[in-house]
Amino acid sequence: MNHKILNLLKEDEFVSGEKLAKQLKVSRTAIWKQIKNLQTLGYEIESVKNRGYRLISRPDKPLSEEVSANLKTKIVGKKIIYSETVDSTNSYGKKLVNKKTPEGTIVVADVQTKGRGRKDRSWSSPLGGLWFSVILYPNISPQNAMLVTMASSVSIAQAISEITDLNPVVKWPNDLLINGKKICGILTELDAEIDKINYCVVGIGINVNNQIDTNLKDIATSLNNETGKHVSRVELLKLIISKLDENYAKLLSKDYRSIRDIWFKYANIIGKKVQVSAEKSTIKGVVSDVDESGCLILKTTDGKVRVVSGDLTIL
Ligand code: BTN
Repeated sequence: MNHKILNLLKEDEFVSGEKLAKQLKVSRTAIWKQIKNLQTLGYEIESVKNRGYRLISRPDKPLSEEVSANLKTKIVGKKIIYSETVDSTNSYGKKLVNKKTPEGTIVVADVQTKGRGRKDRSWSSPLGGLWFSVILYPNISPQNAMLVTMASSVSIAQAISEITDLNPVVKWPNDLLINGKKICGILTELDAEIDKINYCVVGIGINVNNQIDTNLKDIATSLNNETGKHVSRVELLKLIISKLDENYAKLLSKDYRSIRDIWFKYANIIGKKVQVSAEKSTIKGVVSDVDESGCLILKTTDGKVRVVSGDLTIL
C-alpha cells in the first residue's frame, strides 16, 4: 500500500484523497491512515483541506519503499526487509534463510545493537551508517566462496566511485579503505557441504554519515568525513545493489576472470610486501597474484604460498 500511494503522490501538485481512494480501491479513511503511517516513517507530506496531499520530501532511510523504487535488478534486492533496530543484520538474515526468503533478499537496519565483525569482533553500527546483509544461494563450488566477497567488495567500490569523487581501495580479503582508513567491512557467513554452498549471508557495513568512535578515528573514516558532505544512504544502497546484481550474474556464469579483473583495478596490491596474520601464524612475503578463487599468492623465502584468509598489513 505504501508503495502504491507513493507512486501516486506528486511533489509539484496536490492529489485529492478521493482520487487516491478511487485509484487504490480503498476508503478515504484508509488513505488518511496510510498517509499518517508514511509521515511516521519520515515522509514529509503536506495535507490541505479540499486540495489533498502533496509529497514534500522523502527520508534518507533505507526503507523498502525507497530502495525498491525503480530498481531494475534480476536477483539482488528483489526483496528489501528494513528494520529500525536489529541485533545484527547477519544474524537476522541467517534466521530467514530458506524460509521462503528469495535469493537476493536484503536485510537492512538503521542501527545494530550487536553488529559483528570478522573474528567475533564487535562492529559499531550507529545511526547514519549503512548496515545490511544480502542472502544468496550461489550455485558455485565452496572453494570459490571467496569470490562472493570479492564480487561484493568490487560492487561497493564501483558504487562509491560513481557517487563520490573518492578513490576506494579494496584491501584483501574484505575491507575497503579510503585515504588509508577503513570505510567498509564485509562479513561473509556461509553454510556449505563438501561440494555445495547452501547459503551465503554477505554482511556489509559502510560508514556513511555516522560518527566514528573516538578510539577508531586513526584507522576508520566515513564517506561524510572524506567528502565533507551528506551522502545519501538510499542512493548508495541502490547503486551497490545494481552493481552487485551485475557482478553476481558474472559469478553465476562462472566468469571469474571478470570479477578478478575489476578487483585488481581497485586493489593495488601486486608487488607489495605484506604480512598476513592468521590465528596461530604469520606469513610475510611479496604479493605475486590473487588466483581465480580469490586466494592470495605470496612469494616468501620458502617459495610460493597460497593464503586463504587472514589479516593483511602492508609492510
Ligand atoms: C569486518 O570488517 O570485520 C566486517 C564487518 C561487517 C559488518 C557488517 S554490518 C552489517 C552486517 N551485520 C553484522 O553484524 N555485521 C555485518
